[in-house]
Amino acid sequence: MGTTKRCLISRAEIARRVAELAERIGRDYAGRDLVMVGVLKGAFIFLADLVRALPFPVIVDFVRLKSYGAGTESAGEIHITKDVEESLKDRDVLIVEDIIDLGLTLDFLRQHLLSHRPRSLKICCLIDKQERREVEVPLDYVGFVVEQGFLVGYGLDCGEQSRTLPEIFVLEKK
Ligand code: PRP
Repeated sequence: MGTTKRCLISRAEIARRVAELAERIGRDYAGRDLVMVGVLKGAFIFLADLVRALPFPVIVDFVRLKSYGAGTESAGEIHITKDVEESLKDRDVLIVEDIIDLGLTLDFLRQHLLSHRPRSLKICCLIDKQERREVEVPLDYVGFVVEQGFLVGYGLDCGEQSRTLPEIFVLEKK
């Protein structure tokens, strides 16, 4: 049995929501020294669009995390394979993530970045996918709430495929 892709969120909807998020973030952080930390690989497209929609320049940094679990399930231990390079101490930090699913990744990253003693730490997540949540993580900015489904496109991949598509699709069995 194969899979097909059904468009769930169009380019126009993504662009509109990114602009709204950027406006809110722009208001909330006006006059501050903001460091945005993108979570590789998935968040690179969202982060790139978001920073270009902000009314002021920000510092950008990245982390990369790996979760080791069985098969495609992301359950299990999380490791940092690339850490931040900026000093976060006493700075306003905003994590930028593409999707929260189980919540383990953001929970781990939040604790890790808090240990750097930032002035503030918030989270901006494009997609809040709720069906499999195991750990609740405080999300300060959310693009879209999606109840269920395997999503690809706009940074999200399935075995490294479909990551660069400009829309967000849900994979469905044929
Ligand atoms: C995905 C996604 C999040 C994480 C969410 O990354 O981009 O970072 O999983 O998982 P959780 O909420 O269930 O913990 P993935 O590990 O697939 O890496 P990638 O971003 O490089 O594709």
